[in-house]
Amino acid sequence: MPADLTVVVLAAGGGTRMKSKKPKILHEVAGRSMVGHVLVAVAELDPAQVVAVVGHQSDVVGPHLLERAPELLLAHQAEQLGTGHAVRVGVEAAEAAGSGAGVAGTVLVAYGDTPLLTGATLREFAHQHAASDCAVSLLSGLVDDPFGYGRVVRDAEGDVLAVVEEKDATAAQREIGEINSGIMAFDASFLRDALPRLSNDNAKGEYYLTDLVGLAHDAGLSVGAHVVDDVAQTEGANDRVQLAAVGRVMNQRIVEAWMREGVTVMDPATTWLDADVVLASDVTLLPGTQLLGATVVAEDAVVGPDTTLKDCEVGAGARVVRTHGELAVVGAGATVGPWSYLRPGTELGADGKIGAFVETKNARIGEGAKVPHLSYVGDAEVGEGTNIGAGTIVANYDGVAKHRTVVGRHARTGSNNTFVAPVRIGDGASTGGGTVVREDVPPGALAVSAGPQRTIEGWAARRRAGTPQAQAAEEASSDASTHPSTQPSTDDPGVAAPHPDGGDS
Ligand code: UD1
Ligand code: MG
Repeated sequence: MPADLTVVVLAAGGGTRMKSKKPKILHEVAGRSMVGHVLVAVAELDPAQVVAVVGHQSDVVGPHLLERAPELLLAHQAEQLGTGHAVRVGVEAAEAAGSGAGVAGTVLVAYGDTPLLTGATLREFAHQHAASDCAVSLLSGLVDDPFGYGRVVRDAEGDVLAVVEEKDATAAQREIGEINSGIMAFDASFLRDALPRLSNDNAKGEYYLTDLVGLAHDAGLSVGAHVVDDVAQTEGANDRVQLAAVGRVMNQRIVEAWMREGVTVMDPATTWLDADVVLASDVTLLPGTQLLGATVVAEDAVVGPDTTLKDCEVGAGARVVRTHGELAVVGAGATVGPWSYLRPGTELGADGKIGAFVETKNARIGEGAKVPHLSYVGDAEVGEGTNIGAGTIVANYDGVAKHRTVVGRHARTGSNNTFVAPVRIGDGASTGGGTVVREDVPPGALAVSAGPQRTIEGWAARRRAGTPQAQAAEEASSDASTHPSTQPSTDDPGVAAPHPDGGDS
């Protein structure tokens, strides 16, 4: 890298075509703002200084930039008078902030709305500029439809004479297919000297940064134009249609990078990975999977199909099927889903299970513990090896405050229970089916809350006479021998024994 490198990121523009209250460059691609991607690419140059020129909604843009790059210098461009003016504002701010030496070496200009630009492309361009004796270098691109871009005008020898903006170009110049991407590098002393000489006497009435190309050439200085291989990298997203298109390209890039690292992705087109997601080798992602935020998946885990995880951690060999999760941790070898909802603070231990139609929140479910079916577990702790019966609701909220429930180790709770928090169920305890647990259950105890079942014989015949119900009852009693009793035998008369597995099967 050039020893003295200052990068100026232009981020003062409005972005009206987004039709958004949010500044354009803050719109996200792969879970990161567009300008956030640019800052990541710029950081790969290891510049001595980064200046961001802000203007429109600088009260929102400025803090966002400083959050992502605390050392960044903000330069305020009150009125957007053109790219040349913006760079001048940036350079002057850098000089004012500098410790006397001012801006020296190379100044590289990038835009805040080109999220696909890679650090590698910037590095190569900066090297090419540094290796030349050019006062100005620009990154150009060859496109089929150059409309709207500045055209790179070369002479017969191929030397760059000028960049002419669309609105100022002659008909012949508009035929030129080589465009200015906007990424430019300058010798700092040339830039400082030439910026005040820019005029706004042109079709747009703006101070064009690109006029410095002609100025350098006319002064007998060399100008370099390096054609970028992948011109899409320098494209900005100006509206929501372009934002989605850029998002697809970014996603494809991220998914392919992980596949090259040993991740199996069955359907790249329906797999969406944010830029900060981390995957281990031999992870398998099934169709319809979105891994967002800072989600991390360990080796041999299988995620999907149809799963969205944001800021989650999935352990080695775990299996997460048709699940929506946020800020949750799934232990190694654990299984989740299908149709599970893991809300923030869920921690499932190794080899544990959160099954179908189960919602969890702020819940630590121990190693090998299971919540297999149709349950809500919130503000709770479930000990190792415990099985929570089907249809259990942890009533954590009394309408005013949330309370905690603690279930011990190797407990077996029956189906269709309600745990009314705050409550504790001890190690090795059991509860019967349909129990409403309002009081603590000591270790090893069996708690039942339902009264003995009352059976009123012949009720249908008396109270539903003439209905299909009564008729069915009558038919059944006439051949009772073919309908053996399903009542379990129990050593605790009047009390239904808990299902040993709480319905897990
Ligand atoms: C610019 C280039 C053009 C190039 C094209 C590539 C000039 C004069 N033209 O044209 O050669 O082909 O980009 O996309 O440079 N900005 C500010 N302050 C300003 C003006 C602009 O910060 O006063 C920022 C904008 O927010 C944007 C960038 O600079 O990020 C480019 O400005 P824009 O108005 O889009 O320039 P173009 O006309 O597209
Ligand atoms: Mg533009």
